[in-house]
Amino acid sequence: MSWLLAKVYGFLMRGVEREHLEGWRPEVLAEAAGEVLEIGVGTGANFPYYGIAVTRLVALEPSDEMREVARRRLERGLLAAPENTKLRKGFAERLPYEDGSFA
Ligand SMILES: C[S@@+](CC[C@H](N)C(=O)[O-])C[C@H]1O[C@@H](n2cnc3c(N)ncnc32)[C@H](O)[C@@H]1O
Repeated sequence: MSWLLAKVYGFLMRGVEREHLEGWRPEVLAEAAGEVLEIGVGTGANFPYYGIAVTRLVALEPSDEMREVARRRLERGLLAAPENTKLRKGFAERLPYEDGSFA
């Protein structure tokens, strides 16, 4: 079932994205700088909003299906992401990084 959600997630979120998130994302992410760990990256909707101040982005997502959608969108050039971006499987509760790994 989660493969289906991953496929239709963008479509289902379209209204919320236009009404709210598209306005909030640039404002919030303009402050991101240095090394960034995004937890729960989903389909990667935040990627285009990270600026050049971000030197490294690790995008963590537990769902194989959501991560796959993000990976394909990146590959096809449908999303702009910081140059040094890595998509990784991971959960907020068990971060595969030591404290202080992102500065
Ligand atoms: C509402 S979506 C937001 C996606 C993206 N950050 C965005 O702004 O469009 C939440 C994401 O968090 C992921 N998620 C759920 N539980 C999680 C957990 N325990 N650790 C990390 N990510 C999780 C979900 O798979 C989903 O892709």
